[in-house]
Amino acid sequence: MSRPDVLVVGAGVMGCAAAFELAGRGVEVSVLERSIPGAEASSAAAGMLGAQAEAHGDGAFLRLCLASRGRFAAWSDALREATRIDVEHRTCGILRVAHDEAFAATLARDVAWQRAAGLDAELIDVDSARQLEPALAEGVVAAARFGRDARVDPPSWLNALRIGAERRGATFRSGAVVRRIVVEDERAQGVELEDGSRIAAGHVVVAAGSWSALIPGVGLGAGIIRPARGQIVLLRLASPILRGVVWGPRAYLCPRDDGRVLVGSTLEFVGFRRGVTAGAVAELLTAAIADVPALADADLERSWSSFRPHTADELPVLGASGTPGLTLATGHYRNGILLSPITGEIVAAIVLAEPPPVDIAEFSPARFDEAGAGGAR
Ligand code: GLY
Repeated sequence: MSRPDVLVVGAGVMGCAAAFELAGRGVEVSVLERSIPGAEASSAAAGMLGAQAEAHGDGAFLRLCLASRGRFAAWSDALREATRIDVEHRTCGILRVAHDEAFAATLARDVAWQRAAGLDAELIDVDSARQLEPALAEGVVAAARFGRDARVDPPSWLNALRIGAERRGATFRSGAVVRRIVVEDERAQGVELEDGSRIAAGHVVVAAGSWSALIPGVGLGAGIIRPARGQIVLLRLASPILRGVVWGPRAYLCPRDDGRVLVGSTLEFVGFRRGVTAGAVAELLTAAIADVPALADADLERSWSSFRPHTADELPVLGASGTPGLTLATGHYRNGILLSPITGEIVAAIVLAEPPPVDIAEFSPARFDEAGAGGAR
């Protein structure tokens, strides 16, 4: 492999989006993946783009999510042009549904602060909710509609990013296990692989999801990024019965155009233990059927789990590290697919020494040093 300008560690959505953007801007980029592209959380996610539905308050993180959601249409078009792949980006909205007055009050509070922040959000009564989604259960009493939220198909998104990046000249290497980041003369110089070989680069980007902090030389303490397991169940109906994403108190339902519905998700801190449990599947299916009874007749197609990269403050680790030439793009937790376009653009801006398209100060890797939790650099 010739010496690339940029070496990206990890071919999930962050690494692939960074490669797509960098290659589009004329940078020679090579992506290393220990398994195969998208082997982990990136193609296992449900794909709801819940910038508003998942928000807890206004601030830099919400603005990052909104900026990224706003880029999906243009990125999807660019990917279709480059690859002919339809990533199934649909601005279908997300409907959060309540089955009791207490949860309806929570939804009302969410709608109120979002409207005060200038965002589109509405609290709707059960008849209006059922007009939008006729399959909703009788037990639904109210709903909050976040009409600008959307969905995408993560496996298609990941494939399109990778193929699009390749078409733009990026190279991908599977089965490349990075042993450490090579730091010499106080600068990242490249990586050393498991077999002892080295790959030099002008800039290294670590986008290895839940595994990012485990790579020596990254400079994050081992506990900074923790895997948060999510289990998902895939159902299939002969025809679609949901217009958009429906999110009840205990599960979300993310539809596909062909009648599939992804039911998610658990949130478990069980280390890197993979697997799907009977209890979780039972709870997810019970919750899904409570929201949309017709799902009781769906085929149960398959189930899986993956690991979201969690940080203590639940914000991404996104920006230049304390080591010149080393940029981190990880810790996106519940918003990995959503944040991939803006992350690609931010990484490209850092590499090209340009101002990032949005303020990323709050996401700086340095915050863990300040808290005394960072690793030695
Ligand atoms: N964003 C949905 C999840 O992480 O389950």
